[in-house]
Amino acid sequence: MTIIEDPLKLISLLKKYKTKHKKMGLVPTMGALHEGHASLFQISAAENDITIASIFVNPIQFNNPVDLEKYPRTLDKDIEILEKAGCNVLFAPSQEVMYPSRPLIKVDFGSLEEIMEGKFRPGHFNGVAIIVAKLFNIVQPDNAYFGQKDLQQYLVIRQMVKDLSFQISIKACPIIREADGLAMSSRNMRLGTETRKIAPKIKEALDLGTKLLLQYPPTLVKEKVKDFVANVSELELEYFEIADSETLAPVNNVKEHKGIALCIAAHLDGVRLIDNILLIS
Ligand code: PAF
Repeated sequence: MTIIEDPLKLISLLKKYKTKHKKMGLVPTMGALHEGHASLFQISAAENDITIASIFVNPIQFNNPVDLEKYPRTLDKDIEILEKAGCNVLFAPSQEVMYPSRPLIKVDFGSLEEIMEGKFRPGHFNGVAIIVAKLFNIVQPDNAYFGQKDLQQYLVIRQMVKDLSFQISIKACPIIREADGLAMSSRNMRLGTETRKIAPKIKEALDLGTKLLLQYPPTLVKEKVKDFVANVSELELEYFEIADSETLAPVNNVKEHKGIALCIAAHLDGVRLIDNILLIS
């Protein structure tokens, strides 16, 4: 695997692949890689001739400085995972090279960011959109891969690609879970031994919501799921939403929607975790 820090060197390497009409897949990450990421690299490697991963902890998408500071950084282990998963190129730029000065552009995704992550992390999707657009411009891949765990991020990026006419297919890849149901996340490694045992309650809350949705209207399901989480004293619920899986509009009548997403964010031991389940009819 070739490791490159300089965007211009990456552009010149990729030019060689492009002239040979190689199909290229990009997997943007912030490092601290786990099996969930590995599945993205494997899907990209199967669908493209060349897979490029990026590792960049993007400061402008963190609205909480403590979260940024505590974000795990595990480059040596990441390189091993990337090599095993069949990645060809790692782009790992410095902050100075990506942001010689703080970007002034502001991106607003309207109704797509009025709830959930957009509501609770002001400016988050502005930061995500800027870094992803920069990576798209540098790499110019045919395909780009994102995890469904960050469902709202996937929808926002898909919208950006449509609105700005990027010639890139955006692919959402399934959530990879631990044996006890916890969605894999770089943040899981910050959980203590005891709190790690509680973390699967987040997925249990989603499963409960899914089951209840067969019998009760969404407003009542939301109440019951909130009660379930409130009974787990260590968990502090930030949101539980039942939303249309494409527009993220709130679901009032299940029958009116083809796809429904149950989405949750909760704090556990100072770690913010998110998860979701998609119900497609
Ligand atoms: O999902 C992530 O890891 C980040 O939000 C992304 C897409 C790499 C942008 O920094």
